[in-house]
Amino acid sequence: METLISLVNKLQRACTALGDHGEENALPTLWDSLPAIAVVGGQSSGKSSVLESVVGKDFLPRGSGIVTRRPLVLQLHRINDGQEYAEFLHLPRKKFTDFALVRKEIADETDRETGRSKQVSTVPIYLSIYSPNVVNLTLIDLPGLTKVAVEGQPDSIVGDIENMVRSFIEKPNCIILAISPANQDLATSDAIKISREVDPKGERTFGVLTKIDLMDKGTDAVDILEGKSYRLQFPWIGVVNRSQADINKSVDMIAARRREREYFSNAPEYKHLAHRMGSEHLGTMLSKHLEQVIKSRIPGIQSLISKTIIELEGELSHLGKPIAADSGGKMYAIMEICRVFDQIYKEHLDGVRPGGEKV
Ligand code: GDP
Ligand code: NA
Ligand code: MG
Repeated sequence: METLISLVNKLQRACTALGDHGEENALPTLWDSLPAIAVVGGQSSGKSSVLESVVGKDFLPRGSGIVTRRPLVLQLHRINDGQEYAEFLHLPRKKFTDFALVRKEIADETDRETGRSKQVSTVPIYLSIYSPNVVNLTLIDLPGLTKVAVEGQPDSIVGDIENMVRSFIEKPNCIILAISPANQDLATSDAIKISREVDPKGERTFGVLTKIDLMDKGTDAVDILEGKSYRLQFPWIGVVNRSQADINKSVDMIAARRREREYFSNAPEYKHLAHRMGSEHLGTMLSKHLEQVIKSRIPGIQSLISKTIIELEGELSHLGKPIAADSGGKMYAIMEICRVFDQIYKEHLDGVRPGGEKV
């Protein structure tokens, strides 16, 4: 299944790269049909921190206030060996090996679109990370939901952000990572409020509880983590991310993960849950879940892919061969990926068809 997820990743990237060329063909629909995971929650609930821990790298701007002001579509590609690097869609062919520079580029690219204001933009930034240490996943970091506009923001910002978030998570193929901070009442959680709206049965929502270390003395999150406070189809996952003080002291990811593990296995109230807590567990579980979702969606994706191949072939023959232009090349690339997908799909069918020979 690893191959399927990475193929879906490639397809997503190819569809994106083709950009406006997708308008008249099946590509936008194809892109929408590919599963992705979106991170939602109130401002400073810990969305970017959770994303970073799942990836296992420091590369996102984090902090108090509105830091994430554009959607960030993050594609993780597992490579077998070699040095890990990152690449932005808006900076093709530039390989980033210094992840501090990745963070800076995200901040700069945000400012380029929005000015250095506190405005938000719906235009996504696309980032790919290639690493032997990641699981194949597509994750989307979104601006935090807020209740009031702050100085320098238009009054419409509250509704604008909500609409932006909703436009991502209302798609049935979107897996929602709903982030709620444990030091606030769950009944006031923006993440739960908006995810319940688009997924009332909690069939594609994963509840993540952050800031467990910041709860008032004498209180704990056991009821929430055991699913007794708010039921979802999937078990809740608690995490302990780095605090602002840790970030200021540059506590690294490895140390942070070790501390998180120790936190859950040493706390008497959480010991019995420790095996299914923490960022590493979250990453593994999301990847497994994504595999299952892709498996179940294969027939639908497959028919869209056939349609895309036919349409792209049509467009290409219409354009004629001499279009050495970039878009022509990209379309060929997409067709190639589609064909590989097609092939894998058929092998998969052969594998599951009763009496069929396993390829
Ligand atoms: P976002 O606005 O939802 O993306 O939140 P960030 O990831 O930027 O985090 C906001 C602030 O909360 C940062 O200062 C983080 O260090 C801090 N933070 C996030 N998660 C935790 C946590 O689990 N424990 C502690 N102590 N601080 C956290
Ligand atoms: Na923030
Ligand atoms: Mg953020």
